[in-house]
Amino acid sequence: MKEHAFFIAAALLPVNADLVAEGERIHSYFSELLGRAVKLAAGRVDILPDAVTPYTLKAEQKTGALTRFSFNTEITATETSLSKRQAADFADVTDSVRRLNNDAISATRVIIRYKTKVLNEFLACRLFTFNYPLLIDHIRREALEFLDHLENLERGTPLASDANAVAFWNRIMKEHAEFARGLLDPTEEELIVVADGFAQRFKEMLRLSVTPGKDGQLAANRKAVADFRAFNVQGTEGLLECQIKAVIAPLLADHLIRESDHFLLILDNKI
Ligand SMILES: [Fe+2]
Ligand SMILES: [Fe+2]
Repeated sequence: MKEHAFFIAAALLPVNADLVAEGERIHSYFSELLGRAVKLAAGRVDILPDAVTPYTLKAEQKTGALTRFSFNTEITATETSLSKRQAADFADVTDSVRRLNNDAISATRVIIRYKTKVLNEFLACRLFTFNYPLLIDHIRREALEFLDHLENLERGTPLASDANAVAFWNRIMKEHAEFARGLLDPTEEELIVVADGFAQRFKEMLRLSVTPGKDGQLAANRKAVADFRAFNVQGTEGLLECQIKAVIAPLLADHLIRESDHFLLILDNKI
Protein backbone atom coordinates (compact mmCIF):
# COMPACT_ATOMS: atom_id res chain seq x y z
CA MET A 1 0.00 0.00 0.00
CA LYS A 2 2.83 2.41 0.78
CA GLU A 3 4.30 1.88 -2.66
CA HIS A 4 0.90 2.34 -4.30
CA ALA A 5 0.69 5.78 -2.66
CA PHE A 6 4.09 6.56 -4.18
CA PHE A 7 3.08 5.28 -7.66
CA ILE A 8 0.07 7.61 -7.67
CA ALA A 9 1.76 10.68 -6.18
CA ALA A 10 4.81 10.39 -8.46
CA ALA A 11 2.71 10.31 -11.64
CA LEU A 12 0.67 13.45 -10.87
CA LEU A 13 1.51 16.96 -12.09
CA PRO A 14 2.52 19.98 -9.95
CA VAL A 15 -0.93 21.48 -10.59
CA ASN A 16 -2.31 18.70 -8.35
CA ALA A 17 0.05 19.47 -5.46
CA ASP A 18 -2.75 18.79 -2.95
CA LEU A 19 -3.18 15.23 -4.22
CA VAL A 20 0.61 14.75 -4.30
CA ALA A 21 0.79 15.86 -0.65
CA GLU A 22 -2.07 13.51 0.24
CA GLY A 23 -0.21 10.62 -1.43
CA GLU A 24 2.94 11.49 0.51
CA ARG A 25 1.02 11.51 3.80
CA ILE A 26 -0.56 8.13 3.02
CA HIS A 27 2.87 6.78 2.02
CA SER A 28 4.48 7.86 5.27
CA TYR A 29 1.60 6.50 7.38
CA PHE A 30 1.84 3.07 5.69
CA SER A 31 5.58 3.24 6.19
CA GLU A 32 4.96 3.69 9.92
CA LEU A 33 2.52 0.75 9.92
CA LEU A 34 5.06 -1.44 8.11
CA GLY A 35 7.69 -0.45 10.68
CA ARG A 36 5.35 -1.55 13.48
CA ALA A 37 4.54 -4.81 11.65
CA VAL A 38 8.22 -5.62 11.16
CA LYS A 39 8.97 -4.90 14.83
CA LEU A 40 6.11 -7.18 15.95
CA ALA A 41 7.11 -9.88 13.46
CA ALA A 42 10.79 -9.98 14.44
CA GLY A 43 11.56 -13.34 15.99
CA ARG A 44 7.90 -14.41 15.97
CA VAL A 45 6.93 -14.82 12.34
CA ASP A 46 8.92 -16.12 9.38
CA ILE A 47 9.51 -13.35 6.89
CA LEU A 48 8.34 -14.88 3.62
CA PRO A 49 9.90 -14.14 0.20
CA ASP A 50 7.07 -11.78 -0.79
CA ALA A 51 8.13 -9.20 1.83
CA VAL A 52 11.42 -8.20 0.30
CA THR A 53 13.71 -9.22 -2.59
CA PRO A 54 17.48 -8.86 -3.03
CA TYR A 55 16.65 -5.81 -5.20
CA THR A 56 14.21 -3.95 -2.94
CA LEU A 57 16.76 -1.82 -1.09
CA LYS A 58 18.61 -0.85 -4.30
CA ALA A 59 15.30 -0.13 -6.05
CA GLU A 60 14.21 2.15 -3.19
CA GLN A 61 17.54 3.98 -3.19
CA LYS A 62 17.52 4.48 -6.97
CA THR A 63 13.85 5.48 -7.10
CA GLY A 64 14.37 7.84 -4.16
CA ALA A 65 17.35 9.47 -5.89
CA LEU A 66 15.37 9.88 -9.13
CA THR A 67 12.23 11.31 -7.56
CA ARG A 68 13.43 12.83 -4.25
CA PHE A 69 10.60 10.84 -2.71
CA SER A 70 11.57 9.83 0.79
CA PHE A 71 11.70 6.07 1.38
CA ASN A 72 12.46 4.68 4.79
CA THR A 73 15.10 2.20 3.63
CA GLU A 74 15.82 1.22 7.23
CA ILE A 75 12.63 -0.87 7.35
CA THR A 76 13.70 -2.73 4.22
CA ALA A 77 17.19 -3.27 5.61
CA THR A 78 15.63 -4.68 8.80
CA GLU A 79 13.33 -6.97 6.78
CA THR A 80 16.30 -8.24 4.79
CA SER A 81 18.26 -9.14 7.90
CA LEU A 82 15.36 -10.48 10.00
CA SER A 83 16.12 -13.93 11.23
CA LYS A 84 13.64 -16.74 11.22
CA ARG A 85 11.22 -17.46 14.01
CA GLN A 86 12.88 -17.84 17.41
CA ALA A 87 11.36 -19.07 20.64
CA ALA A 88 13.07 -16.39 22.71
CA ASP A 89 10.18 -14.03 23.37
CA PHE A 90 6.80 -15.21 24.60
CA ALA A 91 5.37 -11.77 25.32
CA ASP A 92 1.67 -11.61 24.41
CA VAL A 93 1.39 -9.30 21.42
CA THR A 94 -2.32 -9.95 20.74
CA ASP A 95 -3.38 -6.41 21.64
CA SER A 96 -0.58 -4.81 19.62
CA VAL A 97 -1.43 -6.94 16.60
CA ARG A 98 -5.11 -6.09 16.95
CA ARG A 99 -4.31 -2.37 17.13
CA LEU A 100 -2.04 -2.70 14.11
CA ASN A 101 -4.74 -4.52 12.12
CA ASN A 102 -7.35 -1.91 13.01
CA ASP A 103 -5.04 0.97 12.11
CA ALA A 104 -4.26 -0.81 8.83
CA ILE A 105 -8.00 -1.22 8.15
CA SER A 106 -8.57 2.54 8.61
CA ALA A 107 -5.53 3.43 6.51
CA THR A 108 -6.58 1.06 3.72
CA ARG A 109 -10.03 2.69 3.63
CA VAL A 110 -8.25 6.04 3.24
CA ILE A 111 -6.05 4.83 0.36
CA ILE A 112 -9.07 3.25 -1.39
CA ARG A 113 -10.85 6.65 -1.27
CA TYR A 114 -7.68 8.35 -2.56
CA LYS A 115 -7.32 5.94 -5.49
CA THR A 116 -11.02 6.23 -6.29
CA LYS A 117 -10.82 10.02 -6.31
CA VAL A 118 -7.79 10.11 -8.65
CA LEU A 119 -9.32 7.48 -10.95
CA ASN A 120 -12.71 9.20 -11.14
CA GLU A 121 -11.20 12.64 -11.76
CA PHE A 122 -9.02 11.18 -14.51
CA LEU A 123 -11.91 9.33 -16.16
CA ALA A 124 -13.97 12.55 -16.08
CA CYS A 125 -11.03 14.36 -17.78
CA ARG A 126 -10.66 16.81 -14.89
CA LEU A 127 -7.17 15.61 -13.98
CA PHE A 128 -4.10 14.39 -15.85
CA THR A 129 -1.74 11.68 -14.64
CA PHE A 130 0.97 9.56 -16.26
CA ASN A 131 -0.58 6.38 -14.83
CA TYR A 132 -2.87 4.23 -16.92
CA PRO A 133 -6.44 4.23 -15.54
CA LEU A 134 -6.14 0.42 -15.45
CA LEU A 135 -3.11 0.74 -13.18
CA ILE A 136 -5.05 2.89 -10.71
CA ASP A 137 -8.01 0.51 -10.91
CA HIS A 138 -5.59 -2.42 -10.42
CA ILE A 139 -3.99 -1.05 -7.25
CA ARG A 140 -7.46 -0.08 -6.00
CA ARG A 141 -8.57 -3.72 -6.38
CA GLU A 142 -5.43 -4.85 -4.52
CA ALA A 143 -6.35 -2.48 -1.69
CA LEU A 144 -9.93 -3.84 -1.59
CA GLU A 145 -8.51 -7.38 -1.42
CA PHE A 146 -6.15 -6.33 1.40
CA LEU A 147 -9.03 -4.71 3.30
CA ASP A 148 -11.12 -7.85 2.91
CA HIS A 149 -8.21 -9.92 4.20
CA LEU A 150 -7.67 -7.66 7.24
CA GLU A 151 -11.38 -7.54 8.09
CA ASN A 152 -11.65 -11.32 7.87
CA LEU A 153 -8.61 -11.67 10.13
CA GLU A 154 -10.12 -9.36 12.73
CA ARG A 155 -13.53 -11.05 12.54
CA GLY A 156 -11.94 -14.47 12.68
CA THR A 157 -13.84 -15.54 9.56
CA PRO A 158 -12.14 -17.82 7.01
CA LEU A 159 -10.23 -16.14 4.20
CA ALA A 160 -11.51 -16.19 0.60
CA SER A 161 -11.48 -19.56 -1.15
CA ASP A 162 -8.38 -20.68 -3.01
CA ALA A 163 -10.15 -20.63 -6.37
CA ASN A 164 -11.08 -16.96 -5.89
CA ALA A 165 -7.54 -16.06 -4.87
CA VAL A 166 -6.05 -17.85 -7.90
CA ALA A 167 -8.40 -16.06 -10.30
CA PHE A 168 -7.72 -12.72 -8.56
CA TRP A 169 -3.95 -13.10 -8.85
CA ASN A 170 -4.04 -14.42 -12.43
CA ARG A 171 -5.86 -11.23 -13.39
CA ILE A 172 -3.25 -9.20 -11.49
CA MET A 173 -0.40 -11.01 -13.32
CA LYS A 174 -2.14 -10.46 -16.68
CA GLU A 175 -2.34 -6.74 -15.97
CA HIS A 176 1.30 -6.56 -14.81
CA ALA A 177 2.30 -8.02 -18.18
CA GLU A 178 0.06 -5.50 -19.96
CA PHE A 179 1.60 -2.61 -18.00
CA ALA A 180 5.12 -3.83 -18.83
CA ARG A 181 4.17 -4.17 -22.52
CA GLY A 182 2.81 -0.63 -22.61
CA LEU A 183 5.47 1.11 -20.52
CA LEU A 184 8.51 -0.25 -22.37
CA ASP A 185 10.08 2.09 -24.90
CA PRO A 186 8.81 1.24 -28.43
CA THR A 187 12.41 0.33 -29.42
CA GLU A 188 12.46 -2.49 -26.85
CA GLU A 189 10.76 -4.74 -29.41
CA GLU A 190 11.90 -8.11 -28.05
CA LEU A 191 10.85 -7.34 -24.48
CA ILE A 192 7.49 -6.05 -25.71
CA VAL A 193 6.89 -9.38 -27.48
CA VAL A 194 7.84 -11.32 -24.34
CA ALA A 195 5.60 -9.12 -22.14
CA ASP A 196 2.72 -9.59 -24.58
CA GLY A 197 3.31 -13.37 -24.50
CA PHE A 198 2.85 -13.28 -20.71
CA ALA A 199 -0.29 -11.16 -21.06
CA GLN A 200 -1.78 -13.80 -23.38
CA ARG A 201 -0.60 -16.66 -21.16
CA PHE A 202 -2.24 -15.15 -18.06
CA LYS A 203 -5.40 -14.35 -20.01
CA GLU A 204 -5.63 -18.10 -20.58
CA MET A 205 -4.73 -18.90 -16.94
CA LEU A 206 -7.46 -16.51 -15.82
CA ARG A 207 -10.00 -18.17 -18.11
CA LEU A 208 -9.06 -21.62 -16.77
CA SER A 209 -9.01 -20.52 -13.13
CA VAL A 210 -12.62 -19.37 -13.24
CA THR A 211 -13.58 -22.75 -14.74
CA PRO A 212 -11.20 -25.05 -12.84
CA GLY A 213 -11.08 -28.81 -12.76
CA LYS A 214 -8.53 -29.60 -15.43
CA ASP A 215 -5.66 -31.91 -14.42
CA GLY A 216 -2.29 -30.27 -14.42
CA GLN A 217 -3.79 -26.79 -14.36
CA LEU A 218 -2.19 -25.90 -11.05
CA ALA A 219 1.25 -27.00 -12.26
CA ALA A 220 0.84 -25.00 -15.48
CA ASN A 221 -0.27 -21.98 -13.49
CA ARG A 222 2.71 -22.29 -11.14
CA LYS A 223 5.08 -22.55 -14.09
CA ALA A 224 3.58 -19.42 -15.68
CA VAL A 225 4.04 -17.43 -12.44
CA ALA A 226 7.61 -18.71 -11.92
CA ASP A 227 8.49 -17.77 -15.53
CA PHE A 228 6.88 -14.36 -15.13
CA ARG A 229 8.76 -13.81 -11.87
CA ALA A 230 12.02 -14.44 -13.76
CA PHE A 231 10.92 -11.87 -16.36
CA ASN A 232 10.19 -9.36 -13.55
CA VAL A 233 13.67 -10.03 -12.11
CA GLN A 234 15.24 -9.48 -15.54
CA GLY A 235 13.31 -6.21 -15.84
CA THR A 236 14.31 -5.00 -12.37
CA GLU A 237 17.98 -5.81 -13.00
CA GLY A 238 17.85 -4.14 -16.42
CA LEU A 239 16.29 -0.99 -15.00
CA LEU A 240 18.72 -0.81 -12.07
CA GLU A 241 21.67 -1.27 -14.44
CA CYS A 242 20.22 1.28 -16.87
CA GLN A 243 20.07 -1.36 -19.64
CA ILE A 244 16.33 -1.19 -20.38
CA LYS A 245 14.45 1.83 -21.70
CA ALA A 246 11.03 2.10 -20.08
CA VAL A 247 8.88 4.54 -18.14
CA ILE A 248 8.93 2.15 -15.18
CA ALA A 249 10.43 3.15 -11.81
CA PRO A 250 12.78 0.42 -10.49
CA LEU A 251 10.58 0.17 -7.39
CA LEU A 252 7.54 -0.67 -9.54
CA ALA A 253 9.50 -3.50 -11.18
CA ASP A 254 10.56 -4.83 -7.76
CA HIS A 255 6.94 -4.51 -6.54
CA LEU A 256 5.94 -6.85 -9.40
CA ILE A 257 8.54 -9.46 -8.33
CA ARG A 258 7.09 -9.42 -4.80
CA GLU A 259 3.53 -9.85 -6.09
CA SER A 260 4.69 -12.84 -8.17
CA ASP A 261 6.31 -14.23 -5.01
CA HIS A 262 3.06 -13.67 -3.12
CA PHE A 263 1.07 -15.58 -5.78
CA LEU A 264 3.63 -18.43 -5.70
CA LEU A 265 3.12 -18.71 -1.92
CA ILE A 266 -0.66 -18.91 -2.46
CA LEU A 267 -0.24 -21.59 -5.15
CA ASP A 268 2.07 -23.55 -2.84
CA ASN A 269 -0.49 -23.26 0.00
CA LYS A 270 2.02 -21.50 2.21
CA ILE A 271 -0.33 -18.60 2.99
FE1 LIG B 1 0.54 -3.77 -5.86
FE1 LIG C 1 -0.11 -5.40 -8.79
